[in-house]
Amino acid sequence: MAASAKVWSDPVTQFASDVRAGLCGKGQKELPSKYLYDPLGFALFEVITQLPEYGLTRADERLLRSHAQEIVRHVPSPALVSELGSGSGRKTRWILSAMCEREPVSYYPIEISRAALASCAAELGDVGCAGIVGVEREYLDGLGEVAALRTGGASLLVLFLGSTIGNFDSGADARFLREVRSILAPGDSLLLGADLLKPLERMLDAYDDPLGVTAAFNLNLLGRINRELDGDFDLRQFEHVARFNEATSSIEMHLRSKRRQVVNVRRGGFAAPFAADETVWTESSHKYTRREIAKLAVTCGFRMEAQWVDDEWPFAENLLVAV
Ligand SMILES: C[S@@+](CC[C@H](N)C(=O)[O-])C[C@H]1O[C@@H](n2cnc3c(N)ncnc32)[C@H](O)[C@@H]1O
Repeated sequence: MAASAKVWSDPVTQFASDVRAGLCGKGQKELPSKYLYDPLGFALFEVITQLPEYGLTRADERLLRSHAQEIVRHVPSPALVSELGSGSGRKTRWILSAMCEREPVSYYPIEISRAALASCAAELGDVGCAGIVGVEREYLDGLGEVAALRTGGASLLVLFLGSTIGNFDSGADARFLREVRSILAPGDSLLLGADLLKPLERMLDAYDDPLGVTAAFNLNLLGRINRELDGDFDLRQFEHVARFNEATSSIEMHLRSKRRQVVNVRRGGFAAPFAADETVWTESSHKYTRREIAKLAVTCGFRMEAQWVDDEWPFAENLLVAV
């Protein structure tokens, strides 16, 4: 996390500061994708995972369901399980259940979304032997806290599912994984889900569905600014755009201003001007190749222990071990 991010203790002040930096500078306007997940954004994301066009979550779940026993066999016992950005935790059931067959397990989902943590506790509460302790923190702060809890030589299994790693900008994924590695001990495991490159139309449909759920998810970020920062965005004057950036091999989500306009963000004490057709970049989803993931693992201090790829929707589940 950048040092400046720690200056603010009040999350609203931090949000206002990030929105101002993203909308009032020169060049491409940009908002951090973590702000997509307020309670309404989290609920909309859950609907996205059910869409016929969004095969990613189903592929991730198929792999976890089919290979959970095998994955867990690679993890030294006893182990704590933690998950970065767990969301509802629905897919995690398979791993926790497999862990529970050999020993009781403590599970620490790390989330910035309180709604996600509540949903996760409800979703996984019936997995008998798993004690669930939600950690409402940013990824690395939360992981540091969880790592400090281990006792008696326990290892750590960190889950980073759903290809959330792809939301980091080009190069930032490696920086992030190196930071994760620096918190881990040799022998700890990282189960990393990564969406793979596939035909363009399939990728674009997944981020621009005909029901408009992804558009609502994206536009809700402006709604959130209105609600939390007393903004006056007219959501009808912006539209959702999904496009593929060949150079970075990423689907990018943007919000395009339909006309020239000025938007006031009163709690932030600023106004943001928009030209007609100007966009705000809200999320990237990098699409990996299998070889790229293997290289990323090694350059970040892991070895690739095993990799499983889904037959229906190119997606890789990667078990990395800290060296
Ligand atoms: C793309 S969703 C994936 C959810 C789930 N892992 C899945 O595979 O369906 C990303 C999740 O990470 C959380 N998140 C995003 N940025 C975060 C951050 N910096 N620290 C902690 N959680 C974060 C969001 O609240 C959201 O629930």
